[in-house]
Amino acid sequence: MNATPALAAADVCKHFALGDQIVEVLRGVSLRAEEGQSLALIGPSGSGKSTLLHLLGTLEPPTSGQIAISGQDPLALPEPQLARFRNQHIGFVFQNHHLLPQYSALENALIPTLAFPSAELRRSASSAEPSKPQADRRERARDLLTAVGLAERLHHRPAELSGGECQRVAVARALINQPGLLLCDEPTGSLDRQTATTVADLLFALHRAEQAALVIATHDLELAARCDRRLLLREGTCVEA
Ligand SMILES: Nc1ncnc2c1ncn2[C@@H]1O[C@H](COP(=O)(O)OP(=O)(O)OP(=O)(O)O)[C@@H](O)[C@H]1O
Ligand SMILES: [Mg+2]
Repeated sequence: MNATPALAAADVCKHFALGDQIVEVLRGVSLRAEEGQSLALIGPSGSGKSTLLHLLGTLEPPTSGQIAISGQDPLALPEPQLARFRNQHIGFVFQNHHLLPQYSALENALIPTLAFPSAELRRSASSAEPSKPQADRRERARDLLTAVGLAERLHHRPAELSGGECQRVAVARALINQPGLLLCDEPTGSLDRQTATTVADLLFALHRAEQAALVIATHDLELAARCDRRLLLREGTCVEA
């Protein structure tokens, strides 16, 4: 087992203050994902799957507990560095793709590269490679879109793509910066069964090829069954299912 996991959460709690009420959503969640491993987060609606993904993705801080990504504590970073860390280490796929409607598939896939254009990729195919110019990123975006079967759709805007195609663009976008951690919230939740299977096939193929740890929050037990491990969230804690 690798000494430094891609993701580790220790005794993570998340409470929300709602008026004078405290909503205790997570009450001590611990988990660990190794590089290249896939985890499914399952549990009833309202059990805290999306909340946990937001914390793991550093979009929100936990009330208490620690989160480490590739051995680093991102929440110790000041906001500008945290944004950069998130951009380079974490890819997100949501239930509804959240593509920008005015941009093509290729441009949407490239968006994460625009925030920090001079940033080095976390890992490159040959790890000795220095920072990548934007032309190389464009080539990577084309390669990823080709890998998800959209070579003929590079210049289509979201309105000119099907729901499954949009979600495949979202998968390519999530991987463009070669993140070590890929977080997906109901990535196939709005797709029909056949399209969901196609998107899941591509998601798993790319996660394996890229050796990114994959965490998927899902109600889809077929999708959960494809992951290396399943964690059940219940009453604010998580157990191996
Ligand atoms: N900002 C917030 N303020 C107060 N309560 C919140 C907030 N965000 C989430 N919650 C509560 O936290 C609980 C968990 O929500 P969450 O969205 O994480 O559930 P989930 O497991 O993803 O559910 P679903 O399967 O329906 O997507 C819910 O009861 C929700 O009402
Ligand atoms: Mg949710």
